[in-house]
Amino acid sequence: MTTPELRKEFTEFFVKEHGHTSVKSSSLIPHNDKSLMFTNAGMVQFKEYFRNPAVAPFKQATSIQKCMRAGGKHNDLDNVGYTPRHHTFFEMLGNFSFGEYSKSKAIQMAWRFLTEVVKLPKDRLRVTVLASDQESYELWRDQEGVPEDRIIRSGAKDNFWTMGEGAGPCGPCTEIFWDTLNDDLGEDRWLEIWNLVFMQHYRNDQGELENLPIVCVDTGMGLERLAAVVQSKENNFETDVFAPMFEGLHTVMTEAGIESSQDINATPHKKIIVDHLRAMSFLIADGVIPSNVGRGYVLRRIIRRALRSGNQLGFTKPFMTELYPYLLESFSDGSYPDMVARQEPIKDVIRQEEEIFMSTLSKGLALLEPVFKQKDLSGAKQVPADIAFKLYDTFGFPLDLTVLIAEERGWTVDLAAVEALKQKQREQGRASWKAGSSLVIAKAQEWKEQGIFPTFSGYHRDMLTGQSSTVLAAQSTDDGTGDMILSIEPCPFYGLGGGQSPDTGSITLANGSEWRVVDVFSPYERGLAIRVQAVAEETALEEDLLCMHKGFKLTTFVDAKRREGVAAHHSATHLLNAALRKTLGKAIMQAGSLVEPERLRFDFTHGKPIDQNQIREIEDWINSTALQSVQPVIKEYPLQKAIDMGSIAVFSEKYGEVVRVVDFPKVSMELCGGTHVEDLSKIYPFKILSEGSVAAGTRRIEAAVGKAASQFLIEQDRMVSRLNQDLKSYATSAGNGLDLKVNKMKDHVSDISRQYTRLLEKLVKTPATPVSQGTIDLGASLNPAGMSGIPVKVHQLDSDIQDQEFYSKKANWLKEQDPEAMHVLVWDENVLVTLDQKQFPKMHAGKVLKALLEQVGGGKGGGQPQLARGKIIATTTASGGDGGRSPVERLVSLIQSS
Ligand code: ALA
Repeated sequence: MTTPELRKEFTEFFVKEHGHTSVKSSSLIPHNDKSLMFTNAGMVQFKEYFRNPAVAPFKQATSIQKCMRAGGKHNDLDNVGYTPRHHTFFEMLGNFSFGEYSKSKAIQMAWRFLTEVVKLPKDRLRVTVLASDQESYELWRDQEGVPEDRIIRSGAKDNFWTMGEGAGPCGPCTEIFWDTLNDDLGEDRWLEIWNLVFMQHYRNDQGELENLPIVCVDTGMGLERLAAVVQSKENNFETDVFAPMFEGLHTVMTEAGIESSQDINATPHKKIIVDHLRAMSFLIADGVIPSNVGRGYVLRRIIRRALRSGNQLGFTKPFMTELYPYLLESFSDGSYPDMVARQEPIKDVIRQEEEIFMSTLSKGLALLEPVFKQKDLSGAKQVPADIAFKLYDTFGFPLDLTVLIAEERGWTVDLAAVEALKQKQREQGRASWKAGSSLVIAKAQEWKEQGIFPTFSGYHRDMLTGQSSTVLAAQSTDDGTGDMILSIEPCPFYGLGGGQSPDTGSITLANGSEWRVVDVFSPYERGLAIRVQAVAEETALEEDLLCMHKGFKLTTFVDAKRREGVAAHHSATHLLNAALRKTLGKAIMQAGSLVEPERLRFDFTHGKPIDQNQIREIEDWINSTALQSVQPVIKEYPLQKAIDMGSIAVFSEKYGEVVRVVDFPKVSMELCGGTHVEDLSKIYPFKILSEGSVAAGTRRIEAAVGKAASQFLIEQDRMVSRLNQDLKSYATSAGNGLDLKVNKMKDHVSDISRQYTRLLEKLVKTPATPVSQGTIDLGASLNPAGMSGIPVKVHQLDSDIQDQEFYSKKANWLKEQDPEAMHVLVWDENVLVTLDQKQFPKMHAGKVLKALLEQVGGGKGGGQPQLARGKIIATTTASGGDGGRSPVERLVSLIQSS
């Protein structure tokens, strides 16, 4: 059977024969579960139903779930390519019961599916059960063709399934294994193909097991493994799932002029590429984009590991997107229509990331390679932490990639030390207004547990002043400030994130006291908490605290002026995003943003600086658009619809099923939860303040709009006036005064510098009488040719000249004029020694200088065979009694005495 056939048979078996509801795979991003990074099992989308079967819309379901195991408890990233059956992305076949059936039917159905539908020989299957789960043991024993010696009892480590480290449903499980008959594999001879979990418990935050109201069933079978068994392959990579991709890889390699056998097992790299290609494409399709945090960072690691494997195979140019059509071939049964519909944006993201990384890969490797070549005397073979950090920070090498490369050479990386460097950097960069927020977030988690979800009511201007709210919960910050954290319903204070900085304002309590709102947090989805501070020192705190209890009313005042500034900068951020896509191409991706009342910061993926013309183009487009007074249409849509309408998905990783779309018609359409202007004219004028690089392949633009931009422009204008005044520049019919003046000054400066060069040249060539001349005897080591009495001339130079080049030019000129002598030039405590190589064969000016310095009482210096430079220690009372004499006097005495 092919994989499309397996998908179809599995679904039909549970739907047609056993009345299950077929449920679509959920996103790889678990929108209903913040404790997970990625959907890692079929049960994730049903998590709540196990705890509360009454809310389940169906009693039994079946699904083919997209899964990622590349982060958190279930992480197989490091194994991919090195084992026959680990993947980052895979498909999990599963059937589920929410109180409809239990162990007996689950076991029966699994056995029937494997032995009758797929027709696996019974004598090549065996099962494991939890040692204490006698019921499952007996149920297996009763199946036809399951002798007792094929039922293995084992401990909780293998047969008690939990989702991850955190809270969640869990329970005993029974696993079905396939006998590969390959003794060479040791324990791996037995391949786990299906896991049936009997959800009996809920593990709470404290790690305690609570009993679930009714036993539920959750099963999971890896499609790729099943395919390997059914298609008699020892290796998942040899199945029809991957065959088209390997074929594609070999074709693309040939086109790139890389010689390669068709062998997929010779190196881990081909397997890494095809596995990672699937993972990256599915992640991007579900809205993840490469970044330096969270899911985006896992995606970036996956892409970069794949590219590096490509590099190992011999690719020197981007190649990944050429493989995409072959990936699509494995879904020819139409199982993942998104992968077809979204192929262009998916390829854009991959291509962009590939271009960014390819340009730094070789530079990074050039930094790393010498490390391996170094003689490591300690024998530790450890890549220094600062190099690993630099690769990460400057060249965008994910740490695990550095570890991988190091391991291939038998080296390790001091990860703890690198972490410490990262931590240090984080601390330095942490924005100060966020200080203390983690404390609040931790506290607010408790409210979430209690189901406290306030409503954000502050989108509309009318809601900002004098609205009534009710206290849902209150807590002290316990940090000595006396500040309180409140959850209020409704809450007009914005703190939802998306780069928009939180509102400030005030509240008036039931007793009339005023408290300032100094921060707003969104500690969990639909969670808003405000931090408040007593306004008056003498506030009767006791009485105020009484008014901050559940049920008490208060009145809210959002700082509307600040909000107005923030809204203008937020709308401008959307326009900037649109303008960048127009000017630089659709491939640019938002990588981060910060929206404040007086400026905005926007980070995006782009490999090179933006030139002045492009900056002007962006500013002009935004300004002319702003002047058209476009008004936004803000509505909610199902996620898919919003994306189909063409919204910029910036990126859906945080989005639920229903999303808010901010549409400035014909200008920009983005998914966004933020607050915006009612009319784009509010963002006029728009002015870019700076453009620069923040990391490999990521640029940052800072800009201001409206009043803040006008303020900036006024200041710029004042600066121009000041300069006009200072430089006495005046506009004429020929143009702007400052331009004319500056051009004139530039011409003037180049005239002067030409004259200066000529004068210096003259000065170099002005003959001077040496202050002293004679001969000196140098020992055999300094004078290998054994010349007796080396002629020396000492010149004292004017020390007024700042230009260091003058002195070496002078030395060269003196040497050319008089090659038969060694020349010593002295000014202040500086000494230059120069000698002609033909005249003084095998002598080295640097060594001679050192010897001279030693004889005059010490100093520092060195240089080339022909020219050396140094300094005499200025004051010395060396034993020779030279104290008090000038450097030149000391040198001169050296010659006379020889
Ligand atoms: N949830 C179970 C697993 O992932 C079936 O193995």
